[in-house]
Amino acid sequence: MKHSIKVREAISRMSPYKPPLENRDPEAYMLMDFNESPLPPPPEVIKNISAFLNTHVHAYPIYGDFLEKLSEYAGVPAENLLLTNGSDQAIDIILRSLLESGQEVAMVQPGFQMYNQVAGTIGCCVAGPQFPKNFQFPHKELKESVNAKTRLIVVINPNNPTGTSVSLEQIEDLLKSFPDIPVLVDEAYYEFTGETCVPLLSSYPNLIVIRTFSKALALPSLRLGYVIAAPDYIIELQKIRGPYDVNVVAVIAAHEQLDQPEHWQKMVRHLMDDCKPAIEKFFNENQVRYFSSTANFMLVEPCDAQQACKYLMENKILVRPMRPPIAHTFRMSLRMMPDMQRFMDVFSRYLNSR
Ligand SMILES: Cc1ncc(COP(=O)(O)O)c(C=O)c1O
Repeated sequence: MKHSIKVREAISRMSPYKPPLENRDPEAYMLMDFNESPLPPPPEVIKNISAFLNTHVHAYPIYGDFLEKLSEYAGVPAENLLLTNGSDQAIDIILRSLLESGQEVAMVQPGFQMYNQVAGTIGCCVAGPQFPKNFQFPHKELKESVNAKTRLIVVINPNNPTGTSVSLEQIEDLLKSFPDIPVLVDEAYYEFTGETCVPLLSSYPNLIVIRTFSKALALPSLRLGYVIAAPDYIIELQKIRGPYDVNVVAVIAAHEQLDQPEHWQKMVRHLMDDCKPAIEKFFNENQVRYFSSTANFMLVEPCDAQQACKYLMENKILVRPMRPPIAHTFRMSLRMMPDMQRFMDVFSRYLNSR
């Protein structure tokens, strides 16, 4: 008789984290569902990757001076930095470094699903207030939710999926109010907002910041993220992350993106200065409710979100339907102006068809 492998109780009662990737074909659909960059990285990135692939792929990773490069970009010494395999891995190792089974993460809901998933694997839960209907940050309620079991406070700034921004004062207040609890600030969309809490690190050793090369820096398929934190905590995280978890192709590509930032910076300016105002004007004129954000995505609340997503999909546009309690909305990413125009044309037809 066959016996199946028994995994830990915490794992067996969970489901896999499965973003809706099925049939997600960039050739067939205009992708506005994963908050990605609408543009690929410039040709130099591909050239450098190809040069590497043609020579040193059989050697274990050599990261060269990348940490120094990143240290200049992030404005902290290299000892404050840890590279990770996407910021998903940063979330994984940070939670594993801090939580014992039965303890809690305080985070406003709904947030980025990976936090709930990783907490679940450790036998922990994410407990925190829900966003109110206007999606403003419930700062007071988050503070009130912190209790004896809380081992980590997570602030996603701006929050995915609601787009909610959190002020530096609010972050500093959390760091100050709970000096014995680490506060993880997820700045995945930093390049779009231009705002960071990293300078607070010199006053608050309980601050942990994570960022990614998956969004404005356009490398999600290569998987590169990083942690910015106090050097002694970085050393603890190094014990969990494998020495070669970050692949060299990602580092080569990221190095080039930091060396020649004009390409992605221009794209960021176009999305935030041209595309965002254009789509907001369109929704205002058509009386469609939306929630403005400082990142490259926004939540939209049409009369019937499910029907709107279906119509867009039938017209070869993918947006992200949301689950309860915000199933009355969908999330859409900004793209370059011609693509935004295509979205507006299709959405106008949808509105007229109702
Ligand atoms: C807030 C937030 N954090 C982290 C991530 C993970 O990004 P990655 O693992 O690609 O670095 C995402 C991706 O959508 C995100 O929205």
